[in-house]
Amino acid sequence: MTMDLTESTSSTDAARDEASWPTQQRLLCTPIPGPASLARQAHRATSVAGGIGTVLPIFVERAGGGIIVDVDGNHIIDLASGIATTTVGASHPEVVRRVREQVGRFTHTCFLVTEYDGYVEVCDRLNALTPGTHAKKSALFSTGSEAVENAVKIARAATRRPAIVTFGHAYHGRTLLTMTMTAKNAPYKDGFGPFAPEVYRAPLAYPFRSGLDAAGCSAEAMAALDDLVVKQLGAHNVAAIVVEPIQGEGGFIVPPPGHLAAIQEFAHRHGILLVADEVQTGIGRTGAWFASTAEGIVPDLIVTAKGLGGGLPLAAVTGRAELMDAVAPGGLGGTYAGNPVACAASLGALDAIVNDGLLERAQRIGEITSAHLAPLVGTHPWVGEVRGRGAMQALEFVRPGTLEPAPEAAASVVAHCHRAGVLAISCGTYGNVIRLLPPLTISDELLAEGLAVILEGIRGLA
Ligand SMILES: Cc1ncc(COP(=O)(O)O)c(C=O)c1O
Repeated sequence: MTMDLTESTSSTDAARDEASWPTQQRLLCTPIPGPASLARQAHRATSVAGGIGTVLPIFVERAGGGIIVDVDGNHIIDLASGIATTTVGASHPEVVRRVREQVGRFTHTCFLVTEYDGYVEVCDRLNALTPGTHAKKSALFSTGSEAVENAVKIARAATRRPAIVTFGHAYHGRTLLTMTMTAKNAPYKDGFGPFAPEVYRAPLAYPFRSGLDAAGCSAEAMAALDDLVVKQLGAHNVAAIVVEPIQGEGGFIVPPPGHLAAIQEFAHRHGILLVADEVQTGIGRTGAWFASTAEGIVPDLIVTAKGLGGGLPLAAVTGRAELMDAVAPGGLGGTYAGNPVACAASLGALDAIVNDGLLERAQRIGEITSAHLAPLVGTHPWVGEVRGRGAMQALEFVRPGTLEPAPEAAASVVAHCHRAGVLAISCGTYGNVIRLLPPLTISDELLAEGLAVILEGIRGLA
């Protein structure tokens, strides 16, 4: 296997020696899935719970840069990054080097029992990188859901208020509290009630579906938020408004300009904390460290996960120091939260973003993607909108001439991509959105090839 680091993904020579990427080329040896994957799939069906879904049923042998190699030897172009978990790629040399070094010293001690530097270093980095120049502190966890839950705990402890407001189309996770905060019923909530109390939902500003201009769409959503918080709940009962700066699972919905700033102003006018769930948008994905920055907001608490861990399970809540200190010692944490190997991986990923210029790379990925896809709007009847920021772009499919969601079109294009060796995934409340989340270390050539396959799939729609 060779490693092909392009100009935009340069790393130190020492780090390169530690990892080996698969050849950065799409290569199909068998149909997808191939016989070796199918055999494992048959076995998996007898061993793994049916509730665990998989988008593309291939078993992976190796992955890195923009390529995933399956057990049949197929080289698949990765436009999903494990749903944005492997933002720097699945085996970035700097992550691999740091993880190897850490594992050689110790795998874990539990930060609640004894301390280690990596935990504090990740907190320092997050305190410095997140929006705002005020004093900040962080707490580490393992998953995005766990971190969102802890942001709610911190907000309630700091404000001594019970209610939490989330939005339509929101996705915050699969635990009891976070699935309650999530909007979509099936498959996330169906049959799993009763749900957690004191979670309320305001309608989301969804420009494409509102039928209004940006200002009207924002004003309509703000009026509904005011009605919920002030009239129905009583603002003094609301601890936090939790928002994804660009909604992920719900369909990569980008708010109208100024809308998040309006939510922030509303929250602060009522003594409510603004919590940004940047689990999917954060850590360079949108071309800035945080999507909140482009929106001009400074959240009181900001939740990160996915890309933060460089592929290992790590999540965080970062926020105003006085809020983070509102919880008494022992009130936060978990025996695996902030595991030292995950912290080492995180420091490697954060260094890679800086040293490899991956914020600029995310912006470039956004430019290349929209250059390929934006011309479809108005020229292809099934494509309603192309939207996103940086390396977080999406296509929303509609029935020709209408706003009616077309999940069958999204599914057909995704299936075409999979057959052709391109890993694309769908999302959206209506299942009619294809989201593109390539690793930031994908080369221009592979990205363009993956997009060309998507275009082929779209042109093939009846
Ligand atoms: C915005 C957002 N919040 C929370 C989560 C939950 O994170 P995890 O799957 O790590 O629990 C996700 C996962 O997709 C997410 O996109």
